[in-house]
Amino acid sequence: MSLDDKLTRVAVLGAAGKMGSGITLLLAQQMALAKLQPQNKGRYYRLDAIDVSDQALDGLMRYIREQSQKSAEKMTVIVRDLYKDRSDLVENSEIINEYVNEVVSVIRPASDIGQAKGAKLIFEAVLEKLDLKVSLIRKMKELCPDAYFFSNTSSIPIAEMDRQVGLNGKIIGYHFYNPPAVQKLVEVISNDKTDAHLKELAAELGKLLRKKLIPSNDIAGFIGNGHFIRDGLHALEAVSRLAPDFTEPGAVYAVNKVSQDLLIRPMGIFQLLDYVGIEVFQWIIDVMNKYIPGETMHHDLLERMIAKGILGGQRPDGSQKDGFLKYEKNRPAGVYDLGTGSYLPLSDEAWAKGIEARLGSYPSSLKPWKALVADPNKEAFFATYFQELKQTRSLAAELALAYAQKSKAIGQKLVADGVAASADDVNGVLLNGFFHVYGPINDYVS
Ligand SMILES: NC(=O)c1ccc[n+]([C@@H]2O[C@H](COP(=O)([O-])OP(=O)(O)OC[C@H]3O[C@@H](n4cnc5c(N)ncnc54)[C@H](O)[C@@H]3O)[C@@H](O)[C@H]2O)c1
Repeated sequence: MSLDDKLTRVAVLGAAGKMGSGITLLLAQQMALAKLQPQNKGRYYRLDAIDVSDQALDGLMRYIREQSQKSAEKMTVIVRDLYKDRSDLVENSEIINEYVNEVVSVIRPASDIGQAKGAKLIFEAVLEKLDLKVSLIRKMKELCPDAYFFSNTSSIPIAEMDRQVGLNGKIIGYHFYNPPAVQKLVEVISNDKTDAHLKELAAELGKLLRKKLIPSNDIAGFIGNGHFIRDGLHALEAVSRLAPDFTEPGAVYAVNKVSQDLLIRPMGIFQLLDYVGIEVFQWIIDVMNKYIPGETMHHDLLERMIAKGILGGQRPDGSQKDGFLKYEKNRPAGVYDLGTGSYLPLSDEAWAKGIEARLGSYPSSLKPWKALVADPNKEAFFATYFQELKQTRSLAAELALAYAQKSKAIGQKLVADGVAASADDVNGVLLNGFFHVYGPINDYVS
């Protein structure tokens, strides 16, 4: 059965969550577009959006309406063409409204999973808990014995879910990045057992959704979190080393700053950790520790933050919750001090400037991430910049160089361990999923 046929009956589990809502939006829009094609006239399209929270499902439908409206406004020519035979629709606003209603009408929100009986493609985006995922997939397999499953897991081996449910390869990892409607990257995780037709469907769907697909082997954490988790642990270890001199919050501030400024990343590592969520970061570590023999990943600072209930992550409206850093209008405004249980404000210039002074000078050729992200000649810049970084005698430069070397070593190990097929795949994930401006496996650092 072709992808076109299968895309008539879809279910998303965890549809009202951060990832589920974006995946629902992408698929519902695609289904609405298909429904509007003349050859599909009269065909029934349905996406069952399943979530435990009815209130969150209401929010999902609002989100779908708003986002479909925005995307229709950006592609009025295409949308007008879809309705070219409808003489009753004249104004752009009428046509856009009709399209939004079409997208919304495809979706059936429900808290009862039984409603999704008969789905042909099932996208799973519930919490990163193996038992929960397995129990829902098992229920869905009973309801839809012929369905194919796409899991959005960030770290859990696909083979483990397959084994526990008995899916015979009818599950693939389809790891969208946050937010799915915006981020171009999808890591596609398969293993020896993965059904060949499912692999074809996954590739075809990627094209349809205009995503950049990068394959990853089915090893816990895959490429994205395989790099991010170890990169974050490197930062935590650097904090431990600096803390006696800098105090713990001072060290968090210093490492966050160096990882953003001197590694030229879109945000510092502790801001990224907060964005992902400190508890989510720990869950992924737990999964990786369970399935990757010979490596124990751990840092006590994570546990101490979680024990205090300082978790980061985002509110339903997308705003950033406080974590290692405090946020005002989504920008870092303070650093958490576990000793006092409060945030040291960055507006306390004496404190922040004191740390910056101890970090010392930056290479004079340094440019900010924003200036480089769209620069076609950035390769030449990096060669000069890293050369200067190596010659800069300051703590900041020393920390940055060690960090870049570690990031490269992590990337190389992902290739050596067979998680990634090539250095290009590692770099592709970091460039596209994390918006780095250079890949970790490069010739700039040894
Ligand atoms: N947030 C990210 O940046 C990100 C990125 C890539 C992948 N992921 C992965 O995507 C998945 C979802 O993560 P998220 O961040 O969207 O989580 P989330 O907490 O925002 O959403 C999870 C959703 O699952 C729902 N849910 C919980 N129990 C359920 C049940 N029994 N039946 C139906 N729905 C249920 C919740 O109500 C919630 O809406 C996880 O596997 C995560 O690892 C997350």
